[in-house]
Amino acid sequence: MSAMLDVQNLVKLFPLAGGKVVQAVNGVSFTINRGETLSLVGESGSGKTTVGRCILGLIDATEGDVYFDGEQMGRGRNIRSKALRGRIQLVFQEPAESLDPRIRIGETLGEPLRYLGMNRADRDRRVRDTATHLGLPERALDRYPSELSAGLQQRAGIGRAIITRPELIVLDEPTSALDPTARAEIVDLLIRLQAEFGTAYLLITHDLSTVRFVSHRVAVLYLGSIVEEAPSETLFAKPLHPYSVGLLASVLLPDPELTRSSAIQLEGEIPSPIDLPPGCPLAGRCPFADARCKTEQPPPVMVAPQHFVSCFHHAKVAALDHTTDNFARFQEDSTRLLSVGAG
Ligand SMILES: Nc1ncnc2c1ncn2[C@@H]1O[C@H](COP(=O)(O)OP(=O)(O)OP(=O)(O)O)[C@@H](O)[C@H]1O
Ligand SMILES: [Mg+2]
Repeated sequence: MSAMLDVQNLVKLFPLAGGKVVQAVNGVSFTINRGETLSLVGESGSGKTTVGRCILGLIDATEGDVYFDGEQMGRGRNIRSKALRGRIQLVFQEPAESLDPRIRIGETLGEPLRYLGMNRADRDRRVRDTATHLGLPERALDRYPSELSAGLQQRAGIGRAIITRPELIVLDEPTSALDPTARAEIVDLLIRLQAEFGTAYLLITHDLSTVRFVSHRVAVLYLGSIVEEAPSETLFAKPLHPYSVGLLASVLLPDPELTRSSAIQLEGEIPSPIDLPPGCPLAGRCPFADARCKTEQPPPVMVAPQHFVSCFHHAKVAALDHTTDNFARFQEDSTRLLSVGAG
């Protein structure tokens, strides 16, 4: 069976004045199956949002193809097109972007259904039913967005997306603006909604604690290239790309002493994606980089089922014993985070 979403060799360039070019996305490919969550993670500026916007057809890709349910996206076929209306939805980082401050929450929730031509009575029923699924108190439906906490606002934002029973929701940093308690509640909500409705998610985020709990698979994006893709468990337990290890270590080991002794240190900052040199995107920051890395882009290699890594030196990374501690510590932190949410 073919994947529900199939992204093939997506490239997005933004030409700048003076002939320079921002290489925001450089040949990204992945698939998402029905009911599955793929997380796209990476530092700020790695191209996550641009990938999301190209997939939704909100901007045109420079190269590459995107298929949803076997049909090609783009050229008028996007989330706003009649053919796909309600089948793909979007959730933003700021709930304010999906909630109109002058419209009551209940009305906002029903709006996508009105687009679909659903009558008032059915809409009202679906809104109340969705509010129950969201854990939104019924009285919240009569409130304006500003009268709700950030966490409840984001619940409503997710509600507005799920209410049409879409097959795919693209979530762009849905938890980044929230405090840890609200974040844990949203994570829990996303998992429950997926179990209930079988919705697939493309989760775009740099918040790895959310990723760990929500995703089936994770793709790590660096300077517009996917450097590693693996089942979630595998990526957190045994990352094989130096960048994945560095990214996890920076989140998992805030203690500088520990970081120095046990994890890969990435030098410097993520460079700007303007006129990138050839070779591996990490070559300038990687402790393993040699002459070949600076001239040749490493192709993705399948190291295990569903586990792909684009690094000439992944065997050296595999030989390092640095990840077990990270993982245990990460699990501990995340468990604490989630128990706060449940309480
Ligand atoms: N319209 C545009 N014109 C020029 N450059 C752009 C444009 N949109 C994005 N970029 C650049 O493309 C790169 C990728 O941006 P993008 O917003 O996709 O990153 P991101 O991974 O979503 O980052 P963040 O975590 O900060 O949201 C960045 O260097 C950004 O400055
Ligand atoms: Mg972004």
